[in-house]
Amino acid sequence: MTRVGIIGTGMLGSAVGIHLLDSGFELTAYNRTKSKTDELAKKGARVVDFPKDVAKSSDVVITIVKNADAVKDVSFGNNGIVEGSHDGLIVADMSTINPVESKIIAKKFSEHGITMLDTPVMGGPNVAIDGKLVMMASGNKTIFEKHRKVFDTISNQIFFLGEVGTAHAVKLAMNIQIALLALAISEGITLARGANVDPEIFLKILNSTYFKTGMSENKAYKMIKGSFEPTFTLTNLKKDLDTINEAAMAFGVSLPISAKANEIFQKAVDAGFGDLDYTAILAYIKQLKQK
Ligand SMILES: NC(=O)c1ccc[n+]([C@@H]2O[C@H](COP(=O)([O-])OP(=O)(O)OC[C@H]3O[C@@H](n4cnc5c(N)ncnc54)[C@H](OP(=O)(O)O)[C@@H]3O)[C@@H](O)[C@H]2O)c1
Repeated sequence: MTRVGIIGTGMLGSAVGIHLLDSGFELTAYNRTKSKTDELAKKGARVVDFPKDVAKSSDVVITIVKNADAVKDVSFGNNGIVEGSHDGLIVADMSTINPVESKIIAKKFSEHGITMLDTPVMGGPNVAIDGKLVMMASGNKTIFEKHRKVFDTISNQIFFLGEVGTAHAVKLAMNIQIALLALAISEGITLARGANVDPEIFLKILNSTYFKTGMSENKAYKMIKGSFEPTFTLTNLKKDLDTINEAAMAFGVSLPISAKANEIFQKAVDAGFGDLDYTAILAYIKQLKQK
């Protein structure tokens, strides 16, 4: 069985790791803040002190860290993955990063004889815990297929998209949907409240129409109760909006609403909402109205 390593045991990485252990995989884990590996250790993961140690004892290392700089740190920094390089080592990057950066990182890995695959996902820790993420993959398809069992365990749908970088571009296109849906629902709720209409009625009507979404049918009910326990932080979605806008520039396309969303999410982070769930954009907008 493929030996799996995880680098980055934040909200998503922990859930992916727990599911891999529950599915019978041997798992080695590293996190910069060691205490975040405690739950995995209790479930049988081997916790190590450096990314290079994960690489040494794994066939497939999955990186699930904040951004491209973090991927570079754990890959090429002191005691990084490349220092634990061995024949057949594969790195699968599940972080949400810029496709341009992904190509640079993959090239640098190849200079060390390591193949990097892009494996970004849709879905949060709540679905990762049951192996129900939706994966977009790109890179070397033969190598991807060789370790397919790992990826099939993590996700219930996989879309293989082609050359390295492609999956990250599509993932960013997905996250535009997350940001703009959260904004659209938040503004709808805010307008309904402004007219003294119960937001639950607003959601009930929306969910009776063609325009309903998973967000309006599920998370929106927590939003109207003011419950913003994070599964994906507002800060991390703001990070993705930065990346979306950088990628748009690199591709020479204009995304006017994503640019505006980036400004709004930046203001929400500045106002102290960053550690909450991204849906707390509603709380930020509500507070604007009260000023
Ligand atoms: N949560 C979701 O629903 C979701 C869904 C799809 C994709 N993603 C993506 O998955 C990645 C992780 O998300 P998350 O929700 O798990 O975020 P998180 O809980 O904030 O965890 C971030 C992780 O990155 C690590 N990290 C940050 N900077 C680092 C650096 N310079 N060197 C080493 N490690 C570093 C953190 O280590 P410390 O603990 O030491 O800070 C932590 O393990 C992000 O790219 C996110 O966009 C998340």
